[in-house]
Amino acid sequence: MDKRELIQAAIDNLPNAYAPYSRFHVSAALLCGDGSVYTGVNIENAAYPATVCAERSAFFKAVNDGKREFEAIAICGGKAGVITDFCAPCGTCRQVMREFCEPEHFRILLAKSPDDYREMTLEQLLPFGFGPDNLL
Ligand code: THU
Repeated sequence: MDKRELIQAAIDNLPNAYAPYSRFHVSAALLCGDGSVYTGVNIENAAYPATVCAERSAFFKAVNDGKREFEAIAICGGKAGVITDFCAPCGTCRQVMREFCEPEHFRILLAKSPDDYREMTLEQLLPFGFGPDNLL
């Protein structure tokens, strides 16, 4: 699975977003260490704080299946499901990534299309973060 394919998996999954309140649709495709891919969408709730982001949906599906090693995540989104700009992960999702990923290794792909994306590491998006090592 290359980067373009991972981005395409996120784009293909975007119609599954459940966002009747914000109407901002987000989708993510998470590449695991074993090559498997887990997708996720944002799932909103009438009680707004119960909403979960696309990135965490993907991580929680994968972790539920026993996955613990991750290589990269592709993220896309936009108003009414139309991608017009790069969609960056929120702070809570960055912290969930920090729990399971090596900050200097894990790649985050913010995509408008398979050919138009920005790539950064978790270290760049969450510098000097708090992680499992701090509790050893
Ligand atoms: N959202 C995500 O799913 N991921 C992000 O990276 C940013 C925000 C969702 C949460 C909410 O359903 C909607 O986008 C508007 O904030």
